[in-house]
Amino acid sequence: MSDLTLALDIYGTLVNPLEMDEHLREFAGSDAPAASALWRQKQLEYTFRRGLMRSYTDFGTVTAQALEFASKAHGLDLDKEQMATLISEYQNLRAFPDVKPGLEALGAAGIRLVAFSNGVQATTRKLLENAGVMEYLDDVVSVDDVKTFKPAPEVYGHLCRTLNQPSAEIRLVSSNPFDVIGAKSFGLQTAWLQRNPEVPFDPWGITPDLIASDLLDLAGHLTEHPNP
Ligand code: 2OP
Repeated sequence: MSDLTLALDIYGTLVNPLEMDEHLREFAGSDAPAASALWRQKQLEYTFRRGLMRSYTDFGTVTAQALEFASKAHGLDLDKEQMATLISEYQNLRAFPDVKPGLEALGAAGIRLVAFSNGVQATTRKLLENAGVMEYLDDVVSVDDVKTFKPAPEVYGHLCRTLNQPSAEIRLVSSNPFDVIGAKSFGLQTAWLQRNPEVPFDPWGITPDLIASDLLDLAGHLTEHPNP
């Protein structure tokens, strides 16, 4: 049994929030991909702003407020029911194709696997169950317990305390560079899933310990060379 734990980010890492363009298409037509991208951008921006302001609210509310902004910015005249339907579809985001086989390979190597997200426990667990991923995971850790958002250091400290492991035994896995930089700055090991080779890493001089193209690639790195 490995003493390594992987803390897996969810949105953008295990599931693709930009997939919401499929549900926006009936309202936005060809504008749907842009509206979906603005929705995700505003969702993250709101978490960063709320973290700096010490003005926490749950990720579900942040996501709903970001949708309201994106829909107004794109001139979508959504009523409350349509907004509620879109928010509920957020819990049906599909796992990327590499996620289940990747988690299976990592679990088979004795690596503890936990989800670590801005999402609150109930919503996160429902999303992971709907995506068929929860069965591969040992636990879910939510930043909601410490009432702030990634990449605040408090959330990585909460992760270590919840897992009862030192930061050096935890590897944060995320496709979001802000999360990788936050975790590495706190002292965790890190792996960046560069799902889109055209997206560069932020030039902060803080680099991921490992770069993989997806979760299967990461499993190859970690099971063939356990301590890279
Ligand atoms: C997360 O899943 C928002 O991707 C971020 O915590």
